[in-house]
Amino acid sequence: MDASPISPTAPQPRLRWGILSTGRIAGVFARDLATAKHSELVAVGSRSGESAQRFAQEHGIDTTHTHGSIDGLLADADVDAVYVASPHPMHLESVVAALEAGKHVLCEKPIAMSLAELDAMQAAARANDRTLMEAWMYRCHPQTKRLVELVCDGSIGELRHIQGAFSFAVDYDPAGRLWNKALGGGGILDVGGYPLSYARLLAGLANGEGFADPETMAGVGLLHAETGVDTHATAVLQFRGGVTAEIACGTLSHQQNVVRVYGTKGWILVPSPYVVRRDAGPTQLHLHRGGESEETPEVITVMADRGTYAYEADAFAAAVRRGESEVPECTWADTHGNLRGQLEWCRQLGLTYV
Ligand SMILES: NC(=O)c1ccc[n+]([C@@H]2O[C@H](COP(=O)([O-])OP(=O)(O)OC[C@H]3O[C@@H](n4cnc5c(N)ncnc54)[C@H](OP(=O)(O)O)[C@@H]3O)[C@@H](O)[C@H]2O)c1
Repeated sequence: MDASPISPTAPQPRLRWGILSTGRIAGVFARDLATAKHSELVAVGSRSGESAQRFAQEHGIDTTHTHGSIDGLLADADVDAVYVASPHPMHLESVVAALEAGKHVLCEKPIAMSLAELDAMQAAARANDRTLMEAWMYRCHPQTKRLVELVCDGSIGELRHIQGAFSFAVDYDPAGRLWNKALGGGGILDVGGYPLSYARLLAGLANGEGFADPETMAGVGLLHAETGVDTHATAVLQFRGGVTAEIACGTLSHQQNVVRVYGTKGWILVPSPYVVRRDAGPTQLHLHRGGESEETPEVITVMADRGTYAYEADAFAAAVRRGESEVPECTWADTHGNLRGQLEWCRQLGLTYV
């Protein structure tokens, strides 16, 4: 699909997606694409022909668009956009190759292992006039947009503090993606970016911007004795204007994976902030106006008509349709700040990758 202006009344062509890699999140994205309004799944590429076949059968992809190599997928003329869903250290090569092959690219988070890698990807997107986005899917969901409205319209007064966690417990597997440093293991790069990017989004609203970078950040945590990746981490942040945040992540403990947003006149609980919902249906924000009982919040229901990843695919498709290289829900500068924050958090724990 070319990036050409389209009349608001004309039927919009669907963006044709090829998925690169056949792991866990690739399957989730493929399933959600079936509910997307402006996107459709047409192709898959894998390092292995067998995996590509299996994935294609599961998700109804035609055999002519089933590729046992990256090159095969990138040469597929029916693919407009590639969703890169390999482990983080493999993103650079695939993203740059896809952009150079003329595909638009949505890449899983963290998009890169270093700021230099990110710069190379953004340069390739610029040089090839393609759309590039890091896949922070929650940014595209109507629940996040409603939360932003509530904070902006003063429902909780002036924003003061944000708390967020994303932590779960998994069994130790030294070869697994979460534990193996060569595969980008560690909680900060896997899930720490969620509460960090959430805090940056909300703090940016308080400053009248789309995002903000913390002026100070103090991180502490634990590194695994054998593989050296972080297994538990927390950080306190302070933004310009005095907004603060506490964020946590990990792979050793289940935490209450919610976001709380505090202002001078109340606070909001986001019970399901990241994945939001796996399908269409209602989600809830709990608004506690100042002085009201904690047990009886005002429940604000947000209806979703698609899965979370379908919203992400459609937000991306809309940017492609408009001929924009950046998707407003997560601009390149915003991505840069999220990655810089995660890498700095890692560095403060004594963890470096590149
Ligand atoms: N947005 C979200 O909700 C979300 C959730 C989970 C993960 N993620 C992100 O998505 C990416 C993939 O995570 P995942 O949980 O889907 O991982 P996964 O289940 O381990 O799958 C990764 C896939 O990448 C491909 N791959 C390419 N080179 C590889 C290598 N050297 N070692 C292992 N696999 C390799 C493999 O597919 P082939 O064999 O087909 O090539 C593999 O199945 C990560 O960057 C992660 O942070 C995002």
